[in-house]
Amino acid sequence: TAAAPGAAKEESPFTPARSTGYNRYDALTQPLADGRRCFAVADGFVSAALAAELRAMGGRMDDAGELRPAGVGTGPTRRQDAAARGDRIAWLPSATEEFPLSIVLRQFAALRDALAGSAPRWAPMRGGEIKCMLACYPTGSRYVKHRDTSPLCPDRVATAILYLNADWTSGDGGELAIHPDEGSSATVAPAAGRLVVFDSRTEHEVLEFRGRERWAITGFLYRAETAASPPPSHGPKILVAIASYRDEECPHTVDALFASA
Ligand code: OGA
Ligand code: NI
Repeated sequence: TAAAPGAAKEESPFTPARSTGYNRYDALTQPLADGRRCFAVADGFVSAALAAELRAMGGRMDDAGELRPAGVGTGPTRRQDAAARGDRIAWLPSATEEFPLSIVLRQFAALRDALAGSAPRWAPMRGGEIKCMLACYPTGSRYVKHRDTSPLCPDRVATAILYLNADWTSGDGGELAIHPDEGSSATVAPAAGRLVVFDSRTEHEVLEFRGRERWAITGFLYRAETAASPPPSHGPKILVAIASYRDEECPHTVDALFASA
């Protein structure tokens, strides 16, 4: 039976806030403001019509051969491994006047500004860069547990993902599973118009997708460069290849080493 309207819903740090309404960011910023939750979900971030336009844009880019198999890992250990990550991707321009991408870029920027103004933890991304990626997961693909930050890519603050799948059903799988803590997780269905935003350090994965094609646009929201963070050095670099980086424990060990270096 359905819960009575207004009935108290279970509240936990991992309960996503759900809302509808175009261009209303409160439902995304408020649940994240106090730091208890690490992600928020809103339906209708874009209209069904705009989601369809974006999906069609993806199809055109794919037909033009612009999508490439995605890689895993960063720096010298970057490689392709379709069993670990099966999507094809294209990086999108960070500025364009061209519909429909122009609309989404504007909305991601508005979301960034709303988040940055909503809580101290998000303030560093005020005015920061946004890099957007179009991704298509074919039948049978997935993306194993990972974080969107790494020692070599530490400046992502939040990840925002807009889904474009108008006819998604639960039989298709391909949910985003978010793992805020050891042993707890929540899943988000990749339904058209839905936006999920989370702290880029949070572990997450794309569960095996059994439908035909799963489309999404991911925006990585970066911290703005500040005087406190020096510009990237163009001096000599030391590259260290870590052969065991794929081992479950290794990224955490490397994180810890960098943090205490
Ligand atoms: C990513 C990612 C999740 C999704 O691209 O880093 O985790 O739901 N995507 O598409
Ligand atoms: Ni990710």
